[in-house]
Amino acid sequence: MNSAVRHLTLADIAPDEFRGAMRHLTGGVSVITVGQGKDITGMTVTSVSSLSVDPPTLIVSINRESSSWPILRRLGFFGVNILAANQLDVAERFTGKGGLKGADRFTGAQWTTRISGVPLLAGALAAIDCQVEDIVERHSHAIVIGRVLDIQTSGHTAALAYWQGRYVAVDQDEDAAKLAEVSLPLASARG
Ligand SMILES: Cc1cc2nc3c(=O)[nH]c(=O)nc-3n(C[C@H](O)[C@H](O)[C@H](O)COP(=O)(O)O)c2cc1C
Repeated sequence: MNSAVRHLTLADIAPDEFRGAMRHLTGGVSVITVGQGKDITGMTVTSVSSLSVDPPTLIVSINRESSSWPILRRLGFFGVNILAANQLDVAERFTGKGGLKGADRFTGAQWTTRISGVPLLAGALAAIDCQVEDIVERHSHAIVIGRVLDIQTSGHTAALAYWQGRYVAVDQDEDAAKLAEVSLPLASARG
């Protein structure tokens, strides 16, 4: 890489400027779960993304200072629970709101296990059981690649998203109708 370009990239972007830019990116809200039995914890994330369909893999970016990180690395399994719009309280618990830690974050919701033994959230839009396939540790975070072992879906459709520092509900029935209104004129303008 050209050294002038590297200098610009490293020196000129303040963290707040980057944070401000990323507020514009709408993220689906998931809860990552790790551990087994009473030694469980988890965290709210928006960084889940699918990596490949065949084989089924996904990625998530996890802060290496979080309480979930050492357990995930040690045991090599995690759950991805894609939250429904009515699971805002679960999202808040798993940010550690009010000082909640570990197993206390799980109270007030129903959990099951499948192949790996990590807790999976009943009523999540999808709860995905994963085995760690690879980890890239970079800066404050680790990019975790998960191989999908099993999937549980609920049939709910309204999703929980995070945008501009706020939780928002994305409802298939209501918002699909609004999107259709927006996309119809665009489609006809393109001919
Ligand atoms: C909407 C939202 C999205 C978040 N996304 C991530 C994420 O993708 N990766 C991450 O490491 N932390 C993310 N966090 C922060 C973690 O939820 C939070 O640091 C963690 O739950 C604290 O964990 P600990 O108390 O177990 O250390 C997010 C927080 C919020 C509110």
